[in-house]
Amino acid sequence: MQKLMTASADYAELDSYFAASGAKCVLLVCGSSFEKLPLHPYFDTLEQRCGIRAVRFSDFQPNPEFRSAVKGLSVFRAHGCDMLAAVGGGSAMDVAKCIKLCLTSSNPEHALHVPFVPNTVPFLAVPTTAGSGSEATRFAVVYENGVKQSAADDSILPDAVLFDPDTLKTLPLYQKKSTMLDAVCHAVESFWSVHSDAESMKYAAAALRLVIANEEGYLFGTDEGCRNMLKAAHFAGKAINVTKTTAGHAMCYKLTTHYGISHGHAAALCVKALLPYMYAHPELCIDGRGAAHLEQVYAEIAEAMGCASAAQLPVFFASFADSLLPGIDAMVSAADLQMLTDSVNTERLQNHPVRLTADTIRQLYAQILGKEQLL
Ligand SMILES: [Fe+2]
Repeated sequence: MQKLMTASADYAELDSYFAASGAKCVLLVCGSSFEKLPLHPYFDTLEQRCGIRAVRFSDFQPNPEFRSAVKGLSVFRAHGCDMLAAVGGGSAMDVAKCIKLCLTSSNPEHALHVPFVPNTVPFLAVPTTAGSGSEATRFAVVYENGVKQSAADDSILPDAVLFDPDTLKTLPLYQKKSTMLDAVCHAVESFWSVHSDAESMKYAAAALRLVIANEEGYLFGTDEGCRNMLKAAHFAGKAINVTKTTAGHAMCYKLTTHYGISHGHAAALCVKALLPYMYAHPELCIDGRGAAHLEQVYAEIAEAMGCASAAQLPVFFASFADSLLPGIDAMVSAADLQMLTDSVNTERLQNHPVRLTADTIRQLYAQILGKEQLL
């Protein structure tokens, strides 16, 4: 059972957690934004407070390479660390998760390709964005020589999480909006995934309700708004921990790498395009529970988002996304549409409740990019 903590002004709950861990030295995996966080001085004084040394590891990039985790493992071992802490967004979490799975590996460079040997090294996660929900999942996404790889194992789920609303207050507005949209897409995609169950749908609905109720406070930077948005992203993470994501995420990665928009922004543009298509084609439902189940799911998403009726959900979602971030304004050729279409991971599409052919995906990309005339 993951221990969830909410930060108080003096981080007393962290003191108790560290004291109970019995650790002597923690490897702190964090990005460059760590310098600006209120938690920075906390870790500087951890040895005085709890008798635990903190060794910092920041030698990784966004969309990290697995070899960064292997470097982190060397630092962990060189300093005799016996605990892990990740303070950051998805990248810091992914690196720390991969260090954890290397800890018991006899050949760390190849740890992604052999069965994992679980270990009980304590692992604290402090998310500094309200989006990825990575602290709630057993998945890590890393790259090997530029090729995306994912690892999944229950043993890399952090055993404790600290929600610290102060971490969100210095984020740039674009990042705040796009990470929130990432959490919304996790919740929506999990809701309609063919792998959904009662538990995942409960988490997805809770996430959407929290987003809608706290959007304004979060964007203004209130304590309550930020705290609840962290919880929303966490619940959405718990939902995708059960179901994984679907076509929205399968389609969004190339928009990010090719057009330079953020992950959550791209995911929202894809979900916005998918919804009307899905509504128009109930006959293409591939969820074993049938089209009636999917209709019920649309109604539950609408209800959780505060949309007046299920029928209005595609328009409601589009205006929600448009009110936050714009579309993509770029030169696009027919070859670009094909390149985007070819980039989609077809395995991920099997989680999606409505059949999508390559032609459909090309049409959806044309719509996302406002270039239907190229079809
Ligand atoms: Fe995501």
